Amino acid sequence: MNDIEAIRSRHSVRNYKPDRIEPDKAALINEKIDELNKAGNLHLQFMEDAGNTYNRLLNKAMGLGSAPSVIACVGKEGEDLEERIGYYGEQLVLFIQKLGLNTCWAGTFNKKNIGADLYDGEKLVISIAVGYGKDHGVPHKSKTIEQVTEGKSDMPDWFTNGVKMALLAPTAINQQKFAIRLNDDDSVEFINKGGPYAKVDIGIVKYHFEVGRAQ
Ligand SMILES: Cc1cc2nc3c(=O)[nH]c(=O)nc-3n(C[C@H](O)[C@H](O)[C@H](O)COP(=O)(O)O)c2cc1C
Repeated sequence: MNDIEAIRSRHSVRNYKPDRIEPDKAALINEKIDELNKAGNLHLQFMEDAGNTYNRLLNKAMGLGSAPSVIACVGKEGEDLEERIGYYGEQLVLFIQKLGLNTCWAGTFNKKNIGADLYDGEKLVISIAVGYGKDHGVPHKSKTIEQVTEGKSDMPDWFTNGVKMALLAPTAINQQKFAIRLNDDDSVEFINKGGPYAKVDIGIVKYHFEVGRAQ
């Protein structure tokens, strides 16, 4: 499975089978995390046993009440931390999708129970639930290309291919509050239109765009 196929088949999954992740797959996830932590200067951590990470009342209300495993998304506090978490975390999400597992980015979780290690100056930004889903989720309702693009109206294929993949990106509460601007010199800008976790969203959207553009 390549990144495009992983993007097309990925949907948020909130109901998981109790099955644990096999040791060989857990090892692959940890290897990938090492690679991404180096590339993104992050401290992503795979907690094989998610324990009571999703025991908050709001979790039940949102439908994600438990998961077998979880990724704690941690990094040194700084201006672009959230965006880097989105950009590199989504690469991990797509890698995990290719292993036949499911995921759900989750901003609502119990920060104490996740059991992440935080060094001086680090921040726990968000979690990603991981496990074998009882289902594979469903495609989200999406904005159109016209609704999320700005700038030059004569859009080349590489640009629309990027935008199509960006529209398949997970965003907090499916807000899709971003715009992708094509400038006259063909440079591309990503515009954050606000909302909860919008900076994480932009990082995720950027990675999806790059995958589509390189197609
Ligand atoms: C930054 C971020 C935070 C999210 N937080 C939660 C959450 O707390 N609880 C939850 O059930 N889903 C959460 N989601 C999942 C979104 O609701 C989901 O990605 C969106 O509805 C689009 O659906 P899809 O992922 O199936 O494409 C979050 C997604 C992102 C990107």
